[in-house]
Amino acid sequence: MRIFVQTYGCQMNKLDSALVTAALKEAGFEIVDNEKEADAVLINTCSVREHAEQRVLSHLGNLKHIKESKPELVVGVIGCMAQRMGGELLKHPAVDIVCGPGQITQIVELVKNAVETKLKTLAVSENIRKSPADEKCLDDFESQYDSDEEQPPGQAYVRVMRGCNNFCSYCIVPYVRGPEVSREPKVIIEQIKRLADDGVKQITLLGQTVNSYEYKEGGKTYSLADILEMANAVSGIEWIKFVTNYPAEKYFEQICEAMRDLPKVCRYLHIPAQSGSDKILAAMNRKYTAEQYLELLEKARAIVPGIAVAGDFIVGFPGETDEDFRQTVELAKKARYRNCFVFKYSPRPGTAGERKLKDDVPAEVKRQRNIELLAVQEKISNELSKEFLEKIVTVLVEGHSKKPHLDGGNLQLVGRTDTDWIVVFEGVENLAGEFVKVKIARSSPLTLFGSLAAD
Ligand code: 5AD
Ligand code: SF4
Repeated sequence: MRIFVQTYGCQMNKLDSALVTAALKEAGFEIVDNEKEADAVLINTCSVREHAEQRVLSHLGNLKHIKESKPELVVGVIGCMAQRMGGELLKHPAVDIVCGPGQITQIVELVKNAVETKLKTLAVSENIRKSPADEKCLDDFESQYDSDEEQPPGQAYVRVMRGCNNFCSYCIVPYVRGPEVSREPKVIIEQIKRLADDGVKQITLLGQTVNSYEYKEGGKTYSLADILEMANAVSGIEWIKFVTNYPAEKYFEQICEAMRDLPKVCRYLHIPAQSGSDKILAAMNRKYTAEQYLELLEKARAIVPGIAVAGDFIVGFPGETDEDFRQTVELAKKARYRNCFVFKYSPRPGTAGERKLKDDVPAEVKRQRNIELLAVQEKISNELSKEFLEKIVTVLVEGHSKKPHLDGGNLQLVGRTDTDWIVVFEGVENLAGEFVKVKIARSSPLTLFGSLAAD
């Protein structure tokens, strides 16, 4: 049996796909990198915006056509959309399996069953808020297959917590990934040690709000700062990153101090503001004001010299006026992000935003604001990237860049710095998974270009 796994969405999904892939491989399935050769296709899906769901639905439309001439093809939908739509998705003529993020532990069984019985199967949490998925089972699955599949060589994701309790009014995550649960420190560190033994050099700790990690045990409360300290002590691990942060006071200083004091913790903080208008932040159920947010950034910069900060914004949230948007632009200018992602508001079924607020900003206005905010950010990123000219940076090499060969026949390699800058440079051999020093000769808003520097 040959299986093709296609992943849409965020790092959490990439990690889930890696675990699923490892489990299927161990069960004797062959993993292929192309749909045409596959006997089964698993699509790991994202629900965060309507557009992400539409891409999956059109993919399923294609698979429906393929199944007309290849009826034995098994199609499974896993991930957030599977949990959100459940039985509705199972009705799709192409779909045989619907499996939520809390049920990926059953994936081998589900695929085998679909192949043998040809019956449609639904495996999702009935009430994700009241009966969270079996945490122990998920934890064991995660520990068993702590795999670095689908990651550049030498890198791996490590989940420190699942779910989210924040209920930002636009966000589907709490409804599809369930309540916040932090994993036991011992389990996390054991996993990191095993990854290091397998040659992993960079780990990225994952959590929907990773800085709210909290685990109580034997009278002690562990925060993310404690996990960073323990991870820093694991030999073989060289760089530690963590995403994504929620702008909150709690543990913020300790985490920044850990970043300053622990040599392996990368000076990169992804901390989305979402908006610069207090009115919109309140409507989003974000629990801070623009001023408080900027104070957090100031604090981070005071504690950690050279820190790079990144963010996300949503434009066109219900009720967002020109003045609200202007405040967002102001915030972006003050925040001076290394980069930020800008999304057009998309109402998600069942969220408070969708139920209570009218999606009243016209599509064209959302589009304009998106373009304007990106232009503001591009100028800032451009200024920041110029500061690297003629400097030597350390890069963890990921692999070939999109254009693998230059005229001279040299390889064009790509990697990232500890502050998450993308660096493109020439090399004679594939150095994927290695740390190299690169002298920067040219910069663009998102990428630094250079050549290998002598040590
Ligand atoms: N519409 C648009 N963007 C959204 N995001 C989350 N939910 C929505 C939505 N309904 C954005 C936020 C978040 C990022 C992962 O996606 O900016 O930080
Ligand atoms: Fe969604 Fe808000 Fe939780 Fe982030 S913190 S996952 S935006 S609900």
